[in-house]
Formats: sequence, structure tokens, C-alpha cells
Amino acid sequence: SVNTCKMPVQDLPSDEPQDDATHANGTEAAILSDQVSNINLENQDDELLHFLLKYQADRDSETKKQNEEKKSKKKLLRTEKVPEEIVQQTRSLPIYALKHQLIELVKNNQFVIILGETGSGKSTQIPQYIAEAGLVQDGTKIGITQPRRVAAKSLAQRVSTEMGVKLGSYVGFAVRFESCLSSKTVIKYMTDGLLVKDCVEGDSNLDSYSVVMIDEAHDRSIHTDVAFGLLKRTARCRPDLKVIISSATLEFEKLSTFFNDAPVFNISGKSFDVQVLYQPCTNYMTYMTSTILTIHRKRTAGDILVFLTGQDEIEKVYDELSAISESKVAQKALELQLMVVPCHASLPFEDQQKIFLSTPEGFRKIVLATNIAETSITIDGIGFVIDCGFVKERRYNHCTGIETLVTVPITKFQAIQRKGRAGRTQPGQCLRMYSKEQYDRFKQATQPDIQRSNVEFVILDLLAMGVDNPLKFEFIDPPPPEAVGEALLNLQLLSAVDEYLKITQLGRQMVRYPLDPPLAKVLLTSAELGCSTDVLRIVSVLSTQHQYLFIRDKRRSKEIEQIKQRFFAPEGDHLTFLAICNEWTDSNYDENWCTENFIQYRILAEAEDIKFHLASIMIKNNLLTDNGDDIVTCGQAELRDNICKAFTSGYFANLAKKMATFAYQKLSYGATEERIYLHPSGSLFKKQPLPNLIIFHEVMKTSKPFIIGAVVTKAHWIKEYSPKFYKKLQEKFPLFFE
Ligand code: CDP
Repeated sequence: SVNTCKMPVQDLPSDEPQDDATHANGTEAAILSDQVSNINLENQDDELLHFLLKYQADRDSETKKQNEEKKSKKKLLRTEKVPEEIVQQTRSLPIYALKHQLIELVKNNQFVIILGETGSGKSTQIPQYIAEAGLVQDGTKIGITQPRRVAAKSLAQRVSTEMGVKLGSYVGFAVRFESCLSSKTVIKYMTDGLLVKDCVEGDSNLDSYSVVMIDEAHDRSIHTDVAFGLLKRTARCRPDLKVIISSATLEFEKLSTFFNDAPVFNISGKSFDVQVLYQPCTNYMTYMTSTILTIHRKRTAGDILVFLTGQDEIEKVYDELSAISESKVAQKALELQLMVVPCHASLPFEDQQKIFLSTPEGFRKIVLATNIAETSITIDGIGFVIDCGFVKERRYNHCTGIETLVTVPITKFQAIQRKGRAGRTQPGQCLRMYSKEQYDRFKQATQPDIQRSNVEFVILDLLAMGVDNPLKFEFIDPPPPEAVGEALLNLQLLSAVDEYLKITQLGRQMVRYPLDPPLAKVLLTSAELGCSTDVLRIVSVLSTQHQYLFIRDKRRSKEIEQIKQRFFAPEGDHLTFLAICNEWTDSNYDENWCTENFIQYRILAEAEDIKFHLASIMIKNNLLTDNGDDIVTCGQAELRDNICKAFTSGYFANLAKKMATFAYQKLSYGATEERIYLHPSGSLFKKQPLPNLIIFHEVMKTSKPFIIGAVVTKAHWIKEYSPKFYKKLQEKFPLFFE
């Protein structure tokens, strides 16, 4: 049940194998030493005796060395030189002067909320202060969670540089599908999802941590919210566990109340005044480029940060500004040259790094960003912010199973956060492309992710952790009961949960994979069908940002279209991914091959890493041979069918029947039937005739509800893999399955 505690481990005798080994070595050495001293040493010529004496001496010194190594196992040993400028930088952070106050507060309280502007030093400094103050018990760690994997990795890198250690020794990281840790690790950066998985996989009391810091709490990702509930629950049985919640925004009252009225520690960073200007307009995109240029001409110092809603808008403004900076006449009119940098989540890593380049003399940097520049990324030197007042948000409809990407007005917190980006290094200005009245009508805070997402994986994780009734789990903001109900029904159809709502053996196997339950089920079925090696490749691609697999370039769209056609598989997108992976493997994982075929190398490389990680879990569970091969292999003739069948076993509920050209109807036994459309970039879009029945990976509603990732299926497969679902559909559509 929710409140089960494990026995406190401190009282149990230690059974650490390394200690036993030390003990054994020590005893043996003592016996040996006794034996040697009892021997008559007069017989000095005895070769064997000399040998034994020397052997003993070597052995003793070896044991001593080993013991010392063990003792210092978790000690901080600086092995690299820390550059002086980094030392100076960390000392000038606003948090530095508050170090002792902060430590005292953590010592005296189980929960502490820390507020501070992005860049004030929370993520990089607090863990170092905690470790230095001796608040991390021997043999345990401080875990710092991040909603994004890139942040976890780059913070670990940064902090190991600051501490003068190699990444993966004293400071390490673990993110989904990748980790860099050792037995010496004390400061562990990780994604919040992995902390939750630690709990699912047995460390239910988080015994391996003395301190857990939930960073970027304002982000309110689903995993962050689950971690909140878990920590509150775990802290009851572990009075020694310290929990730090750090956030960059103003919503602290709710957090403090949730964590038993935790004290709130404010790091007031040195920020400068930001003057707010309102310029309401009906369509901000019409005026964006001219507004940027006007400001550029008038401003004397400081870079410009522009908040837009997405890649399309960013590309449009980027093209317009580039055209101007390329035209000599236009450029002459400008005192400073333009250095335009786009900044959004789907940019390749190297391009994202460009945001941090300092602005060269004679230039002004203009950053065109989505909301990722609100809190996740700090760009120095911004003197002017332009805020369009909107943001793109994903919303999941649990009745239809359809996710919608909607553009909505930002919240007051977001507007304040965006404004604050201008005053970090100098007094600034913020131009809001909306009116003061519109601002007043903005909602206070964003609705947390967990209330607008599919919660199937959350519910299954909670059941696996022994939370028998997820409705009673203490969420800071619970998911709507209908969403929990729908998730339970779907988990039942997947056989992950039985009729009494208990997690099944299959469900327990599914939670071992860091995947959505349907995708985990696909992997498990593929092992039975003898097509795991191929299904693994497809599942890995589906776990990346596969919608960006093909490079988009308006100027070369015809060429790209031709190349894409070459890979398109008649069964649909999943087998297209397989064809791409196979050819790439034949090219010996060549990056040039990707460039020639307009494919993003970084996505295939990431998929390859994911594949290895998933394969290692399958090997551990005896679903693949030690070499990563299928244990049973299906014949070539059945292979393509079996792959489609494996996907049907997980995604039967995402079933759609052909209606008209490009249009399908989602078949569900619920009240709604949605019309959904093949996306023009998909493999089946140009196929004639269109397959009668398909299953899909997801539906994303932008201008229309578009199918992303479609693959053919057959009615009798649905019957085979989910007789219950099939029966319900048959009752509702009696004519359909004839
Ligand atoms: O957590 P918070 O946003 O308060 O600050 P932080 O991430 O600890 O960043 C403090 C400073 O460390 C930043 O201003 C950067 O100068 C530096 N930093 C960095 O160089 N590389 C990183 N990956 C993270 C921080």
C-alpha cells in the first residue's frame, strides 16, 4: 500500500562483499606472518624462504594499497586542473555568498524549497556545497534530477570541470539509454524519469541516496510530479533523507504547502530593471521582422532575444532577416551587423551550442527562440526581449487518444520569466506584442503536464511500485480521474493489469523497459515471433524525434521527395524506418551516406545507442542471446508480417479503417469516432490502393488530426492479440469484420 516502509537498513549487518574481501585478506596475511616468524631464520640460504618473505612483503603492501584505495573510494580526488576563470566564475555566482545559510537550512529541515533565477548557480553549486558539507552519507549519493537529458549530461560535465575530476568518477550522470557513473560517484545528475525507474526497479526507499534534489521543478514535467509524490512518501519512512526542490519561478507557495510547509530559500540574483513596453497587434508575425529591425537600429547595446512559438515561425523570421543581412544596401543602413541564431528543441546539438557563442565586435546577436529560452537555456548579454505572447502546448485527449498541438496564450508566470531574460547582465527592455489588458487576462500558471498527457506509463509504474490505488497517490496536482480510468482500461487490454487491477507478470516485464507500455509490449511479442532484431531497430527509431528523421529543406524539397520514395515500404512507416536502418548499417554507419540521403545522422546514431540499451535489457531477461540475436528466428517469408503483427500486439487500440482518400476513421469502442488523416510526409500517403486497416503510432492534431507512423494490420491479428478489444469492436460494428 501507499505507506509501506522497508526496514531501516542502517541496523542490519553490512554484507558488502568488498569488506569481506578485506577481512579475508587481512586474516590470511596475519597467519602467513606468524608462520614466517616461526621459521628458523638461521637457514638464510633457503631460497624458498626468501621467496616467501618477499612474497609476504609484496602482498602486505598490495593489501595496504588496496585498503587505502577502498577507503578513499568516495573521497574527492582532483585529477584535473581547474581553470582559474572557472574558479572566479563560480565564486561570483549569487548563490556563493549564501552557501553557509543554505547548508544550515538543509541540515535542519527535511524539505527545502530553493528559488532563484536561471543562472544563479542552483544546479551546479548546491550539490557541491552539500557534498563538501558532509551531508552525503558514506556509500550513498546526492541525486539531482533534470527534466531534460541534455541538461543532465551537460551539468555533470560542467560540475566535473569545476571540481577538477574526470566525468564519471566523483561526478557522473544517468539518463535514459545512457549513463556515465562509477562506484566512486557521489554527485549524480540524472533525468527525473530515471529516479522514478530506480524506485520501480527495487530501490523503493531510495536507499542509495542521502539527498535528492529535484531541479527545474517549475517545469512540472510528468516525471517531476511523480517524483514529488514519491519523495513525500519515501521521506516518511526515511527521516534521514534530505529533499531539495529548486525552481526558477514564482510558484513556490503550492510547493511549500505540499512538502509539509517547507521553508523557502530565496537566492535573489543580481538582476537589473527591465522596462516593459506594450505593442498590441492582431498578427504579430506580420510585424515581427520590422519590429526587430527598428529595435536593432535604435538600441545601442545588448543582444535581442525573440520569443516565438515554433520552428516554422523561427524559420520564417530567420529567412527574412538573413535576406536583409545578405543585401549590401540594407546592411549599409545598419550600424551593427546582424548575427541571427535560431534556438529550438529540434536543432542538432552543434547548432544549439551556437547560441552561447559570444557576439563578435561590430555585430548584434538576435536569438530567435521558443519557450526553451524561458528557463532551460541561459543566454548571456541579452538587453532586449520581444515576447509574442503565445506558446505551443501539447494536449492529450484521453477519450479519443489524440494529441493536439495548440497555440495558446502564455501565462503570467511565463510573461514575467520572459521579461526577466533581459535584465541579467544590464538594465533591459521587454516589448510585449500584446496589450496590458491581454496580459491581465492571462492565466496565472501553466497547467502541469500530468493533467494534459497520456498517463498509462505513470499508472503502470505506480502499480509496479506497490501503489495499489493510483487514485490515492499523493500528487501535487492529480491527473483527471477519467485519464486514470482510461489508462487502467488500456492497461487491461494490454494484459499488463488483470481484472482486479493488479499488475500482471507481463506488466512487470513491461516496466523494465524505459518505454511506453504499448511499445514495451511490442518488444516482448517480437521475441515470441522471432523478429526482435528488426523490431528493436524500429522501436529505437520510434523512441527518437523520428518526425525529423528526414532533413527538411524547402529549396530542395523535390530532390528530398525522390530520395524518400526509395525507402518507402508498402507496409508503412515502421518498415520504412527498417529499410533506412539496414542501408545505413550496410554503409558502415557512414555520416556521408546520411547527408547524401537527407537523413539526420544524429537521429540514427541516437537510435543505435537506444537499440543497444534495449537489447541489453532483453538479454538480461533471456529474450535475446548474449550476442543480441533472436533466440528463435522466423523465416524470411514471415518476417515482414511478423513485424506488423508485433506492433499490432501493442497498438491494436490505435486502429483505423480506410474511409476516403487519405482519410481514416479511428475505430474505438468508446463514444467517439474520429476522422484522422495520413500525413503527407508518411510512407503510405501516395500508396494506391490504401490499406484497409492500419494501426498508428500516434495522432498529432495541427491543422488536421494527422497520423504519425502508420503500419498495415489484419482483423484476425487484433483478435489474436486482444480478443477483448476485438469483441467490443464487433459488438459496436457488427458489419465491419465480415
Ligand atoms: O541552476 P541555475 O539555473 O540557477 O544555474 P546553474 O545551472 O548552476 O548555472 C550557473 C552558471 O554555470 C551559469 O551562469 C553558467 O555560466 C555556468 N554553466 C555552464 O557553463 N554550463 C552548464 N552546463 C551549466 C552552467
